[in-house]
Amino acid sequence: KQSNVPYDIIGEEQLSKLVDAFYSRVSQHPDLAPIFPDDMTETARKQKQFLTQFLGGPPIYTDEHGHPMLRARHMPFPITPVRAEAWLTCMNAAMDEVQLHGELRTFFFERLTQTARHMVNRPNDKD
Ligand code: HEM
Repeated sequence: KQSNVPYDIIGEEQLSKLVDAFYSRVSQHPDLAPIFPDDMTETARKQKQFLTQFLGGPPIYTDEHGHPMLRARHMPFPITPVRAEAWLTCMNAAMDEVQLHGELRTFFFERLTQTARHMVNRPNDKD
């Protein structure tokens, strides 16, 4: 099988493990858990679909759900700068857990960082 896109390098299995490791951390994170559903089975399924196409694989998210419009889909949820950084911290730890290394990790994490910062739609909560 040819490996022309990042998705072919990471593969379905490692991507699936990454997403599961990620949501397991999200569900334990004090800043993130409250805005996610208790059961993240469906969230994880959609994220696997989305990240598949984000990495150049088949457009299975769009086939089922239409254009991602990620910023619009996140608007109902209060995404503060603190939550965006927490999301990235969970992803970084999940990448460690599944031993995703090298150029692919650097590239993938860089693009997730840009996307996460773009999702911010509220200022930080004041305390
Ligand atoms: C859905 C939070 C960043 C991709 C969601 C949901 C929440 C959320 C609360 C709804 C979960 C559900 O109801 O099942 C956040 C927070 C972020 C963030 C706090 C911090 C910046 C991102 C990024 C991506 C992403 C960077 C992509 C790289 C998705 C996708 C969905 C989703 C694909 C499912 C959308 C759908 O319903 O079809 N996110 N998200 N999110 N998020 Fe995020």
